[in-house]
Amino acid sequence: MTTTSLSSPPTFTPLSRDKLAAARVLVVGDTMLDRYWYGAVDRISPEAPVPVVRITREEERIGGSANVAYNVVTLGAQASLLTVVGEDEASHKLEALVAKTGITAHFGRDAALKTTVKLRVIGRQQQLLRLDFENTPPSEVLASQSATFVDLLPQHQVVLMSDYGKGGLTHVTEMIANAIAAGKPVLVDPKGSDYTRYKNASVITPNRAELQQVVGSWHSEDELRTKAHNLREQLGLQAVLLTRSEDGMTLFDAQGELSVKAAAREVFDVTGAGDTVIASLAALVAAGLTLREAMPWANKAGGIVVGKFGTATASYEELIA
Ligand SMILES: Nc1ncnc2c1ncn2[C@@H]1O[C@H](COP(=O)(O)OP(=O)(O)OP(=O)(O)O)[C@@H](O)[C@H]1O
Ligand SMILES: [Mg+2]
Repeated sequence: MTTTSLSSPPTFTPLSRDKLAAARVLVVGDTMLDRYWYGAVDRISPEAPVPVVRITREEERIGGSANVAYNVVTLGAQASLLTVVGEDEASHKLEALVAKTGITAHFGRDAALKTTVKLRVIGRQQQLLRLDFENTPPSEVLASQSATFVDLLPQHQVVLMSDYGKGGLTHVTEMIANAIAAGKPVLVDPKGSDYTRYKNASVITPNRAELQQVVGSWHSEDELRTKAHNLREQLGLQAVLLTRSEDGMTLFDAQGELSVKAAAREVFDVTGAGDTVIASLAALVAAGLTLREAMPWANKAGGIVVGKFGTATASYEELIA
């Protein structure tokens, strides 16, 4: 086993803009609408001991797998997004926002599905409440997604599964099997405690808490190594990429392991870094890099977005700078 220690500087394989432009990633997963309502708080409600927020401004952003696909596009690669939504106001908003990004959208619609919305109410500079709207997608719309997935596969070099545990990836095992049979690498951002559903994927990218939920906690790097390699072998994965926030990331593969230190200079907003990491990995693998070659770039991309407020994407120019 070869081990690259945390202290060795990462090597950056050259990354051509043309190859990235020709890279096509098929993103499948749970899409959501992130909504922010900002307002003024001047009084307490006469109805209950809660503040009354007079809404003055509204903001909306694409979230979940749509944000992942957007990260593929901002790097200069191409992304298709296969996802299920409802037939409600939020789904139309989401569609309009996605249309502006350059993502090729394939929305499966079902009136029985509530489009996932996370609504934050913000007053006096702080979040007062978050309201989540969601339910489980009906099986008919999911079955039709699986059929569309098989049709879309040949036009893409890489598949990216963005699991937010909302039920959009109910048929993930079968989709992975189809993609691998077609010779397409599959990258998975996992959720939950049952990873057998991701069996035979190329790589999964859990963060520390997510991996711990599945393999238990570790007390040393040795113990982590054993647990990660066991998981990799049990699930028939090529690699496990553990993202470690301020400690960078470690790739466990058949060759051994490879670690890189976090690349951020200043940290402002850590949300969305995981989305950026897997999106960059997928775009770069689609552009012809190996996982080991793509990893330092993905780590750098993660470092770029944690240094930004709000916008959680990195551009090609920022990446190669
Ligand atoms: N505090 C930090 N300092 C430096 N780099 C960071 C920090 N947080 C995240 N990163 C970078 O982003 C990558 C992914 O972060 P992390 O492991 O937190 O993923 P995550 O928990 O899936 O993120 P998300 O909030 O998007 O779900 C890290 O591997 C690292 O490169
Ligand atoms: Mg994550």
